[in-house]
Amino acid sequence: MLTILNNKCNLTKEEFLSYQKELENFKGKDIILCPSTIHIPNFYLKDISLGAQNVSVNDMGPFTGEVSAYQLASYNVKYCLIGHSERRHYQKETNEEINLKIKELLKYNIVPILCIGESKEEKFNNKTKKIIETEILSAIENLTSEEKNKLIIAYEPIWSIGSGVIPTNMEITEVLQVIKNILPTNKLLYGGSVTDENINTLKKCPLIDGYLLGGLSLKPYNLANFLKQMTN
Ligand code: 13P
Repeated sequence: MLTILNNKCNLTKEEFLSYQKELENFKGKDIILCPSTIHIPNFYLKDISLGAQNVSVNDMGPFTGEVSAYQLASYNVKYCLIGHSERRHYQKETNEEINLKIKELLKYNIVPILCIGESKEEKFNNKTKKIIETEILSAIENLTSEEKNKLIIAYEPIWSIGSGVIPTNMEITEVLQVIKNILPTNKLLYGGSVTDENINTLKKCPLIDGYLLGGLSLKPYNLANFLKQMTN
């Protein structure tokens, strides 16, 4: 089971250092930490892998404020979140840009963790399947089968992120099955309001290979409990 920690735009330098200290105890689990880009040079954990939260569509050169896959790779970044709904919403990231970012990452052997999911309105209008298919098909356009197989897919319903509400296992299974019909062998994650309590329900969902955690990633005590419950 994979556990991916998305710290989002949180933690000062001092806070990140003490947070990392608490994560030192998390050994022998499949954990990927995606801190704010600014903390990447301070990452030192040996038993946790390093991920980024975003990457530029460009390689290197005159792109002020951007961070490229080429640079991330030089800091031993092995994974990168792509197409998170917060970036699609606030940074107006398009499916075309997401496809370009995936290609950049693959060029430098960084595993893209593609985030997809429907809004509340789309769910209400029975558009979930269509949204999921469109987001995946556009993201993997022009990739070889070998490249496609490298992606990790995270299903994060937008209405669930930070809301405390999660879909039923049946709803999650339906969506993961849609993804499996397109990408049968890729690892599939669920993200959105996961806690050390609702993991006991989520873990009964057979198609989930791991979790993408936002708020919970910032609470080491609850995170430890989550990891315990997940494997129990
Ligand atoms: P929450 O776990 O805070 O709902 O966030 C989920 C998320 O967006 C992870 O990428």
